[in-house]
Amino acid sequence: MAKIIGGLTTSHIPAVGNAMASKLEQDPYWKRFFDGYEPVKQWLDEVKPDLAIIVYNDHGLNFFLDKVPTFALGCADSYQNADEGWGIPASADVPGDAQFSWHLAESLIRQEFDMTTCQEMLVDHGFMVPMNLFWRQHEHWPLKAIPLAVNTVQHPLTSAARCYKLGKALRKAVESYPEDMKVVVIGTGGLSHQLQGERAGIIDVDFDLKCIDKIINDPQWMAELSNDYIMEKAGTEGIEVIMWMVMRGALADKVDVLHKHYHAPISNTGAGVLLLTDAQS
Ligand code: DHB
Ligand code: FE
Repeated sequence: MAKIIGGLTTSHIPAVGNAMASKLEQDPYWKRFFDGYEPVKQWLDEVKPDLAIIVYNDHGLNFFLDKVPTFALGCADSYQNADEGWGIPASADVPGDAQFSWHLAESLIRQEFDMTTCQEMLVDHGFMVPMNLFWRQHEHWPLKAIPLAVNTVQHPLTSAARCYKLGKALRKAVESYPEDMKVVVIGTGGLSHQLQGERAGIIDVDFDLKCIDKIINDPQWMAELSNDYIMEKAGTEGIEVIMWMVMRGALADKVDVLHKHYHAPISNTGAGVLLLTDAQS
């Protein structure tokens, strides 16, 4: 049986791709941010997951504003990095697992999450920056990945509550796959940031830290927040944090925190990292 062995979260800031490509990890501006990923990379090296389900939002690359699915699942055997030229060099395509994707699609749709299924999908920084942060592999990726895109761009948007429920459905979908596979679920995006308009540049450290704590210990609190409230506190793009709730829903009610890190600002964003597993006791 496939099993979810952990949940990870990370911001997916494009400037991070640029910094990695320019080998700036030890640069004073970047060092603390990148150091925050080391324990997660070590854990991944030890547990060696077979597959990552990466919950991210497309930023107008694969879906432009004329056609935006609320939830879309990659159902391909590979995904091409088409990261808008922000910095990550054109890397090897990321291998997918179409058979597993179709199983997820069937199970999720049966559980009333009506996925758009994509047999071709270009992936942008929302997907590639997390891949590079956690695995830093350009030639041969050490695992397969499945993109699960959530619309956080074109309103009306889905909610934190719905994302949390999607995570629970995703867990059932994964656990009903007959093959033995170790799966990690990665929620990307956030934390607070706004990239345009009068409030461009806002970051709310207190709200970010509260979200991290509540996502870990009291996800129901987070699930009850309205999108308007999240955007008022965290900025219009801060709404990306709802994708962390897909990861959280895919784990048990109680979790162990293997790693937690926050650093602000990086580019325009409060950047957070989490590594959670189902509670062992
Ligand atoms: C930034 C953050 C994002 O999540 C994004 O999609 C684009 C830019 C930023 O902080 O610059
Ligand atoms: Fe983003």
